[in-house]
Amino acid sequence: MDSATKPRAVVVTGCSSGIGRAVALRLLRAGYAVHATARRVGDMEDLARAGAKVARVDVTDATSVNDCVREVEAVHGPVWGLVNNAGYALAGPVEDIGVEQVRHQFEVNVFGALRMAHAVLPGMRSAGEGRIVNISSVAGRFSLPGGGCYHASKHALTCLSDTLRLETRPFGVRVSTVEPAAVNTAFIDTALRVLASSGRGLPAYRTFRADLDRYYRQVQSRPRRHGLGTPQTVAAAVERALSARTPRPRYVVGAAAHLCLGLHDVLPRAWFETVVRLAFPLPGPGG
Ligand SMILES: NC(=O)c1ccc[n+]([C@@H]2O[C@H](COP(=O)([O-])OP(=O)(O)OC[C@H]3O[C@@H](n4cnc5c(N)ncnc54)[C@H](OP(=O)(O)O)[C@@H]3O)[C@@H](O)[C@H]2O)c1
Repeated sequence: MDSATKPRAVVVTGCSSGIGRAVALRLLRAGYAVHATARRVGDMEDLARAGAKVARVDVTDATSVNDCVREVEAVHGPVWGLVNNAGYALAGPVEDIGVEQVRHQFEVNVFGALRMAHAVLPGMRSAGEGRIVNISSVAGRFSLPGGGCYHASKHALTCLSDTLRLETRPFGVRVSTVEPAAVNTAFIDTALRVLASSGRGLPAYRTFRADLDRYYRQVQSRPRRHGLGTPQTVAAAVERALSARTPRPRYVVGAAAHLCLGLHDVLPRAWFETVVRLAFPLPGPGG
């Protein structure tokens, strides 16, 4: 960014850990006026020390979303950039998860991003410019056992982003999706916690749940979490989406993400599902 011009204001959600924190730090270094948000404000003190404005925002709460955006607008005028990053994975078998929990998954991963977009877009339209970057996932292109509700939320986010991109481009607003595969953050820890509490208690899925728990723990305990991407790589893609003159519609991040999307796109559906059945835990006949 040109240092002679006024810094562009960018709001980032979910900055108290992982990808959001890396994005906030990267954008600060690039000279943006970063507004870092999350529910756990105490976990963003390092970002405040690095120069970010820090605010408590729960993306499921319209008042907290709107208050945050109005505060940024009062200082900077229209928000220039929005990075919708807040999210988590509701892990568990589709039949064995209550509808309320699925609703909450969508409240955060989908409606949260939509609420944020609704809050910033009037300003962006009036300014005739703006950028929205939605952190979706390769999980938004296919679906795996034990992750159906999370996948559904990321499919929805990717789909909304694709349409929003078409509809807001005439107003000068550019929308991109960032699609990583597995990244080394607290994401799996949260997924494990949610898995332990997401069940409706159906006996048919008891063993499958235990197998899923074991599978996620194996990924988590790999030495240096081998094979996982880094939050910094995702942050670099976010910066590209914000700074490119013509941002790409979608940024697929990392070799693993390219590999699984390549397999998904090239293999016939039945073959892809055979690979999935061989690689991931599934319920057995006795649960
Ligand atoms: N890690 C991966 O493997 C991976 C892969 C692809 C995509 N992603 C996506 O990347 C994004 C960030 O995940 P991460 O890996 O960085 O996980 P993380 O370390 O667990 O961070 C998740 C962030 O989301 C915030 N959050 C959760 N619920 C929120 C709410 N209701 N309101 C506001 N903020 C909320 C959390 O902050 P508070 O709890 O403080 O609110 C936290 O800062 C997610 O959208 C995730 O789906 C992750």
